[in-house]
Amino acid sequence: MGCCLTVRAYHERTKHRLDAYAQGPQYLDWDQQPNPFRRFAGAEVVELPLQGEGGIAALLELSLGLSAWKQYGPDRWALRCNPSSGNLHPTEGYVIANGINGLGDGVYHYAPHEHALELRGKLAATASPPQLLLGLSSIAWREAWKYGERAFRYVQLDAGHALGAIRYTAAALGLQVELLPVTDAEIAALLGLDRIADFTGAEAEDPDMLLRIHTGSTAPFRLPAVTQWYGTANALGGLPKHTWPVIDEVTEATICHSRRGVSHTPSSGVPEPQPDLIPLIRQRRSAQAFSGKTSNLPRDTFYAILSALLPASNPVPWDVWTLPIRLHPILFVHRVEGLPTGLYALPRHSAAEIALRTAMNPDFLWQTPEDCPAELPLFHLLEADARKAARTLSCHQDIASTSSFSLGMLAEFDAGLAEGAHVYRHLYWEAGLIGQVLYLEAEAAGVRGTGIGCFFDDSVHEVLGLQDTQFQSLYHFTVGSPAIDTRLEMLPPYSHLPEERQP
Ligand SMILES: Cc1cc2nc3c(=O)[nH]c(=O)nc-3n(C[C@H](O)[C@H](O)[C@H](O)COP(=O)(O)O)c2cc1C
Repeated sequence: MGCCLTVRAYHERTKHRLDAYAQGPQYLDWDQQPNPFRRFAGAEVVELPLQGEGGIAALLELSLGLSAWKQYGPDRWALRCNPSSGNLHPTEGYVIANGINGLGDGVYHYAPHEHALELRGKLAATASPPQLLLGLSSIAWREAWKYGERAFRYVQLDAGHALGAIRYTAAALGLQVELLPVTDAEIAALLGLDRIADFTGAEAEDPDMLLRIHTGSTAPFRLPAVTQWYGTANALGGLPKHTWPVIDEVTEATICHSRRGVSHTPSSGVPEPQPDLIPLIRQRRSAQAFSGKTSNLPRDTFYAILSALLPASNPVPWDVWTLPIRLHPILFVHRVEGLPTGLYALPRHSAAEIALRTAMNPDFLWQTPEDCPAELPLFHLLEADARKAARTLSCHQDIASTSSFSLGMLAEFDAGLAEGAHVYRHLYWEAGLIGQVLYLEAEAAGVRGTGIGCFFDDSVHEVLGLQDTQFQSLYHFTVGSPAIDTRLEMLPPYSHLPEERQP
């Protein structure tokens, strides 16, 4: 089967349907969850300072590090600055340092629980200018353990969230980020993911992205050479040990073999740090419930949150996204002051507006809402109480209807796949990035968001009048006033580390 056919077949079979969820395990024992923390035994450990002023330590802590522990009775689990479907955290982070102050040259794996780096590889000596790279990889098994066949989608969404978390943190610290045009094989070789012997008995990691952190230098990017490797990956466990062959198939089919389309060097010069972002990054949480009746959002706040999704007017985080813009929110507005309830669309470029008008229900209104900022392409499609529909479509989850608004993200699916099967992953990354913007914008507005990976795909398409795969909904999200669960205790993120490491 061709790669695109494999992807299409995967996408179809992992749709949740009103009468049947995608294939997954029949039962779960949370005590048998895969270890969310990968370690490399035998690798030298470099402990990083906590709550540092800047540098790699702060970049990692605020993007991929812990931000809290939650405790309920005897159970305790770590939460991170980057969100993750089911809090299972498939995304792993790597640092490749060359000529960077305070860190020897090398390839390092980031261990968020210890807030430490593990030296995986030594770099060949060069006289080239300093270069700092961040690599991301995914361990699909962590998500597959809970979600079965649909897990590959969540892994990719999480990678998009991690990209967003890194871009916002870099902005907070006055750094720029570039998504580098490299192949998956190049990422795997640089991070040591293809070293089969180092992963004996351990779950595989698949390459996702290689990012360059710009600190003012405009020297061209160099792919470093690794001369020596250290450490072996831990086995993560997780029972029952189902295998989901379609995840291996879609992983294989979506490998990116080309270097096309992601090159862009940020403008030279060092941007001003944006320290106001740091408290938002630290406090970001998923709302687990909304306070229903009090979830009224001022209209201007609603417009401001949506405006942050437009790449042209928001260099952070969108300057990192040099791939085509292909995701367009369809909103279910429940409680926004002065705005009729119902369905709205936010085509994020003008060609998509035309395409959506043609593809969706011809009876939709396409009216500009009152006082909508001129630069915000928001359209009212249908006046209705959309709460019941939103709840049902998002796997009967209350959070989709008790919020101020929820949304689905429609991807230009056929156009994306026409460029190659690997674009399937890019579509999910873009959706995850949109989700990360919404999380942080919600915190900034004094409300809270939650990603929603569970929805009935084709029922969403039906409600919108979509009849083919030109557009497919890939991710849902909801925003409103959170109802705080007082049964849960929140603990500080690094209180488990010895006293001498406390800031
Ligand atoms: C891709 C993705 C999908 C998610 N889907 C759901 C969902 O369907 N329902 C839900 O209640 N929470 C969902 N969440 C929220 C996660 O459960 C949450 O991010 C995780 O428990 C970690 O908590 P935190 O976001 O507060 O750090 C999702 C999050 C992500 C990133």
